[in-house]
Amino acid sequence: MGYKEVCAGEVPLPLLLEADPSERSIASYRKNAWCFAVHSAGETIGACIVKPIGVKTAEIFNIAVCPPFQKQGIGSGLLSYTLGELKARNMQRVELNTGAFGYQLTYYQRHGFRVDRVLKNHFLEHYSEPIIENGLQHLDALRLYRVLD
Ligand SMILES: CC(C)(COP(=O)(O)OP(=O)(O)OC[C@H]1O[C@@H](n2cnc3c(N)ncnc32)[C@H](O)[C@@H]1OP(=O)(O)O)[C@@H](O)C(=O)NCCC(=O)NCCS
Repeated sequence: MGYKEVCAGEVPLPLLLEADPSERSIASYRKNAWCFAVHSAGETIGACIVKPIGVKTAEIFNIAVCPPFQKQGIGSGLLSYTLGELKARNMQRVELNTGAFGYQLTYYQRHGFRVDRVLKNHFLEHYSEPIIENGLQHLDALRLYRVLD
């Protein structure tokens, strides 16, 4: 199992839908993005899609690991690898949107991300279907950031 940069178009759509249920949204950031992935037995089992949004700032638009491979440290390895690659590209800051509750928030915080601001009604305004987790609907998103030092 190894982490490497790939073409974002190579990543299977069902994997990206694990993190973002909107195909339209995925299409909007997939083109010309940087993509870091992890493979097992020739299959892509995890991917992270990133784009520069400023001279020294990048945004993580999607990070996902195939469900059978989750909770085994692969996503943490992929995020660490991605942050290292961004630093090597002279990025100084990484930003992303995530839900205001759930294990994903803890996952990012364990990797040094902090809350920048609340995006009120983000999930209501940007997704046509309700996004439910643990029986609770996601309404607001958090904008997180991490400084790469
Ligand atoms: C978020 C994700 C990329 C993490 O990848 P992973 O390989 O599971 O990551 P790790 O094994 O390194 O685990 C990271 C943490 O997430 C927790 N976790 C992972 N999957 C989980 C799940 N389905 N339910 C609850 N906790 C989960 C792990 O227990 C671990 O928590 P800890 O640090 O408190 O021990 C992966 O779970 C995933 O693809 N989730 C669905 C897509 C998604 O939500 N992407 C992020 C969008 S904001």
